[in-house]
Amino acid sequence: MTYSIKFWAVVPAAGVGKRMNADRPKQYLQLNDKTVIEHTLMRLLNADVFTAVAVAISEEDPYWPELAIATHEKVITAAGGKERADSVLSALKAIRTLASDDDWVLVHDAARPCITAMDIIHLIETLKNDEVGGILALSSHDTLKSVQGNCIVDTLDRSHIWRALTPQMFRYGLLKTALEEAEGNPAITDEASALELKGLQPKIVEGRPDNIKITRPEDLALAQFYMEHQND
Ligand code: CTP
Ligand code: MG
Repeated sequence: MTYSIKFWAVVPAAGVGKRMNADRPKQYLQLNDKTVIEHTLMRLLNADVFTAVAVAISEEDPYWPELAIATHEKVITAAGGKERADSVLSALKAIRTLASDDDWVLVHDAARPCITAMDIIHLIETLKNDEVGGILALSSHDTLKSVQGNCIVDTLDRSHIWRALTPQMFRYGLLKTALEEAEGNPAITDEASALELKGLQPKIVEGRPDNIKITRPEDLALAQFYMEHQND
C-alpha cells in the first residue's frame, strides 16, 4: 500500500507487567517461536506502511538489547517513562526531527502481539481523511452493571459502551500537544483520552476480537490459540 503521507508506529513497551506476575516483563515472555514484543514489532513492520517504529523501553531493561529486532533499520529506541502516556510521549519526541505535524502516528501496545495487517489497514483506510483520528475498539457483548460495594445499582445501555484497543491513530502534532498538555494526569490511560480532554471526539473503528492485550497469565495461551488460527 502506498500513501502520500507518512505513517509512524509508536510502541509503548516500558511496563513491568505486574498483573502477569512473571519473572520478567510480559513483553519478553515466549509465545511460540518468539517473544511477545518480537511478534508485535514483526507484525507492524510486515504491514509495510510505517516509515519507522519508535519503541519506548525502560532504562533498566536488560532484555531489549539482546533481541535482534532492536537493531532493525526501521526500529528506533526511546526511553520509557513512569506511566504509559509518558512512554508514548518519549517515543514521539524521539522522532520529532523526522516526523511532520500532519503525519499519522499509530500507537500500539507491545502487549498486543496478535495485531493483524488487516486491522491496521482497516484503521488507516477508515481514518486517513479524518480531521481528528481514532482508535480500534470492540463493542461489549456482556450486559454491563454499575456496582457500589457488591450491589448492582444500574444496568448500563451497552450500545454506548465500547472497549478501547490499539492501534490508536492520530496526527503527530496534535497527539504530541495533547499528551504534553495532559502530562501527569492519571485519567489519561490511552491516547484518545488525551484528545478528549482537549474537547475533541476521536472516532471508533470496529477491530477484531483476537487483538487481545496480554495482561494475566491465562492470556498467553489465548494469544497462542488466536495466532494458530490466524492466517495472515
Ligand atoms: N507501558 C509503557 N510504560 C509504562 C507502562 C506501560 O510503555 N510506564 C506499556 C506496556 O509495556 C504495555 C502497554 O503500555 O505494552 C500497555 O500497558 P499494560 O498492559 O498496563 O502493561 P504493564 O503496565 O506492563 O502491565 P501492569 O499494568 O499489569 O503492570
Ligand atoms: Mg499498566
